[in-house]
Amino acid sequence: MRIDVITIFPGMFEPVLGESIIKRARRKRKIDIRLHDLRKYAQGKHRKVDDKPFGGGPGMLMKVEPLFKAVSDILGVRKKKGCKVLLLTPQGKRLDQKKVRQIAELKRILLICGHYEGVDERVRKLFVDEEISIGDYVLTGGELPSMVLIDAVVRLIPGVLGDENSNVSESFEGGLLEYPQYTRPSDFRGLEVPKVLVSGDHNKIDEWRRHQSFKVTKKKRPDLLKK
Ligand SMILES: C[S@@+](CC[C@H](N)C(=O)[O-])C[C@H]1O[C@@H](n2cnc3c(N)ncnc32)[C@H](O)[C@@H]1O
Repeated sequence: MRIDVITIFPGMFEPVLGESIIKRARRKRKIDIRLHDLRKYAQGKHRKVDDKPFGGGPGMLMKVEPLFKAVSDILGVRKKKGCKVLLLTPQGKRLDQKKVRQIAELKRILLICGHYEGVDERVRKLFVDEEISIGDYVLTGGELPSMVLIDAVVRLIPGVLGDENSNVSESFEGGLLEYPQYTRPSDFRGLEVPKVLVSGDHNKIDEWRRHQSFKVTKKKRPDLLKK
């Protein structure tokens, strides 16, 4: 899968994309992530990417021209073929595991990170296929939301996680939260690991885990059960 990102802060990404699972996925060529500095597409000595909103109001907006140039340059003039352009915005569809799965099936995506008060509305009209939000709160820019999306997507790409089963039992897969897990020591200050987990009986362990998943979901996220 290829992921292009348009941002005014490419430097924010490297510490995250250069570590852990994403780093390994890039090394194994499971994912091709390319960062594009929007300022490269802006004109003038100061390479200005923002301006005041028409009609007044607080803050600045990201201008349409540099974004248009960036998207056209990255995707070609006929652009979009085979590539979905996603705008990170608090107004978008809330990202959940189902949406992450859909995105992970695409061959190529282009992420646009907003900043300031957001983007000129014509950006949406001209080339955005879908708007994505990571939650009902407002962040300073689209960089952290992009990284959240990339991280969630990358772990679903086949061959990225060491054990393919890791995804199967994870929270939200199958509509439930994950069951409680324990590691050594089996007794910590009198808190013992449930006996079934050290019984060696895998049918019983599976049954216990299914039951616990249901219990945890009912307690912490009953809304998931209604779905
Ligand atoms: C300060 S926000 C702009 C908020 C905008 N004025 C509004 O009220 O919808 C700046 C940028 O951060 C990003 N952003 C902020 N919160 C986000 C969220 N919850 N999900 C996705 N992107 C977000 C978007 O790219 C947005 O353009």
